[in-house]
Amino acid sequence: MAGLTHPNLVVLTGAGLSAESGVPTFRGTYGLWEGHHVEEVASPQAFKAVPEMVHRFYNMRRASLKTVEPNAAHHALVRLEKAWPGSFLHVTQNVDDLNERAGAEKLLHMHGQLKKIRCLNCRNVMHWEEDLDISTVCPECATAGKLRPDIVWFGEVPYHIEEISQALETVDIFVCIGTSGVVYPAAGFARQAASKGAKRLIEINLEATEISSHFTDQRQGTAGEEVPRLVEELLKEVL
Ligand code: OAD
Repeated sequence: MAGLTHPNLVVLTGAGLSAESGVPTFRGTYGLWEGHHVEEVASPQAFKAVPEMVHRFYNMRRASLKTVEPNAAHHALVRLEKAWPGSFLHVTQNVDDLNERAGAEKLLHMHGQLKKIRCLNCRNVMHWEEDLDISTVCPECATAGKLRPDIVWFGEVPYHIEEISQALETVDIFVCIGTSGVVYPAAGFARQAASKGAKRLIEINLEATEISSHFTDQRQGTAGEEVPRLVEELLKEVL
């Protein structure tokens, strides 16, 4: 391949990537939590009205990270990241830390992270592994009751949008794994990639999604089986 430009790759992942690790998806069987849809819990309005409930939801999800491990799909994506000769970017909507634990480095968390918190008083963002409640004191400014999960809630602007848009400008291959395609702006990335000239758009999901029609290649199956297979195929083509 000497002298040739290598294709640029953008991978977008959603909850389906971590499902086989035991992290519940948002809209699947476990889509309800204490009788609420996730949209009712993951919002600034809910945090204002019932902060104890919102903290309970994220405390549970943060604590459950201690019981899960990266699966074959996370590991395969890291193999792709390390071996890919063109530019590579993994954009995840997931707030778990399974990609990092598998070794991912070229990774952007567009919806925030469970293991980060933010102080509404001093604005600092901090690493956090324990439970939070409405009286937890900020380690930076010592104010009580102003800490929130560093998660992008409904109605808030996702992180890293500029960097993601830049990557989509020059993407050749766009891969989308385990997302239902109902939450924007991520749900619009496949269309954006196609409009910027991406020739290959590959979707891996258990089923057809709201955005399947934008893909040139749809693979139905589990991420744990389909992602390692796709990674080997892509690497065989370019190496
Ligand atoms: P969803 O729960 O909406 O969708 C998960 C998708 O993964 C579905 O399309 C499933 O069919 C698919 N899936 C499940 N198990 C799978 C497996 N083993 N292999 C492959 N695919 C599988 O999750 P997201 O699309 O990630 O936002 O949700 C997007 C955003 O909505 C989340 O980031 C979250 C939520 O509200 C925030 O918290 C801000």
